[in-house]
Amino acid sequence: MNAYSFFLHLHSGFRYLVLLLLLLAIIRAWADWLGKKAYSEGNRKLNLFAMISAHTMLLIGIILYFLSPFVQFNSQTMKQFDTRYWTMEHLVGMIIAIAIITIGHSKSKKAALPEAKHKAIAIYYTLALLIIIVMIVLSKRDLLGMS
Ligand code: HEM
Repeated sequence: MNAYSFFLHLHSGFRYLVLLLLLLAIIRAWADWLGKKAYSEGNRKLNLFAMISAHTMLLIGIILYFLSPFVQFNSQTMKQFDTRYWTMEHLVGMIIAIAIITIGHSKSKKAALPEAKHKAIAIYYTLALLIIIVMIVLSKRDLLGMS
């Protein structure tokens, strides 16, 4: 197995952890926000781990960016779907989603009231998850499968 295939499988498989943690954090944030629950240590850890998983995905993605044959910088890059998507669109979309997760986490951390803490996670993480799902669908690879 070469470095490209190793990091492609790592990045591809790691998506399940990111999607799962984001989904769990979102479900809990909405439920605890609407149910007017306290902001527990469990909430804090889940929200933190979801953010860390997204940041880890960013690091693996950056390494993969330098290894992937679809990342190219030449006159044909923007004309072909695969090179345009993997050189530009995936990177930009996913970085925006990860930035939104980071902002949401920071807003939640700074907020004083439990309601505001849950609300920041509920709104920002949901938006980020939607962007991630749309970006994977746009890649024309399977959302929940290895290519
Ligand atoms: C939450 C963030 C991200 C998710 C969920 C995600 C998801 C994915 C998925 C599902 C694939 C396809 C894997 C396959 O077909 O087996 C992929 C490939 C790839 N991703 Fe990401 N990604 C994320 C962030 C990033 C970032 C930030 C970068 C760049 C800095 C990046 C660069 C790449 C590259 C270069 C490929 C490989 C394309 C190829 O050679 O086939 N990803 N990503």
